[in-house]
Amino acid sequence: MALDPTSIPAMAADYATKSPQETLALAFREFGGDVAISFSGAEDVVLIDMATKLGIEPRVFTLDTGRLHAETYRFLDRVASHYRVDIDVMFPQSAAVQALVRAKGLFSFYKDGHKECCGIRKVEPLVRALKPLGAWITGQRRDQSPGTRTAVPVVQLDRTFGTPDRPLVKFNPLSEWSSRQVWDYIRLHDVPFNELHARGFISIGCEPCTRPTLPGQHERAGRWWWEEETRKECGLHAGNVG
Ligand code: ADX
Ligand code: SF4
Repeated sequence: MALDPTSIPAMAADYATKSPQETLALAFREFGGDVAISFSGAEDVVLIDMATKLGIEPRVFTLDTGRLHAETYRFLDRVASHYRVDIDVMFPQSAAVQALVRAKGLFSFYKDGHKECCGIRKVEPLVRALKPLGAWITGQRRDQSPGTRTAVPVVQLDRTFGTPDRPLVKFNPLSEWSSRQVWDYIRLHDVPFNELHARGFISIGCEPCTRPTLPGQHERAGRWWWEEETRKECGLHAGNVG
């Protein structure tokens, strides 16, 4: 690994006051082609936009669960052509999806929680996407969630998907940014966004597990709305709650 794991906490404190562009520059300087942006939403396009403006051609992957909105698929395609980036689309293992659907139907998550389906459709493909990498970059922000993201640092050692033998670094360059800052950036730089945002959606995941939010609701209130606020992590960022 390019970075000494013991230096990461000090680096996190140092970079907390720096710009997202400085964190991105650090990530690509240290890891080059071994770091990728994990892309699905508005924050992630901001990161792609920033990287491109820094003269970096970022490696990008997305997790296609098979349950995304049609609008999201169009958005993914628009981002790829707008920035001329190849987005590595990761799919779940068909045998695992088939076994789950055969056993429990297409909407088991409403009955027994989202963990099993997310495990098959998101987490296992993420593990495969991360395998060749030394680091990944996410669009997580501290103020996104009242329960699970309040302590997300700008850079951290990923203890969920990394191991002592194969350490993995996780960069969250926007962790200190507010939603307002993200959307100001999107407007200022004409960054493409998912058309669902114009229809009341704020945080967007899979179609059956996402609904629009009402005025005054927290931005992730529309995700897995039938579950408790403090359990709203799908496993991609399990380390946040560990
Ligand atoms: S989630 O865990 O609840 O789905 P959220 O939608 O808030 O996460 O997104 C937080 C960050 O996780 C995104 O900025 C992105 O980096 C990553 N992420 C979430 N969903 C995906 C996905 N389908 N593909 C790739 N990265 C994703
Ligand atoms: Fe399955 Fe819903 Fe998780 Fe998507 S968000 S993987 S549909 S449980």
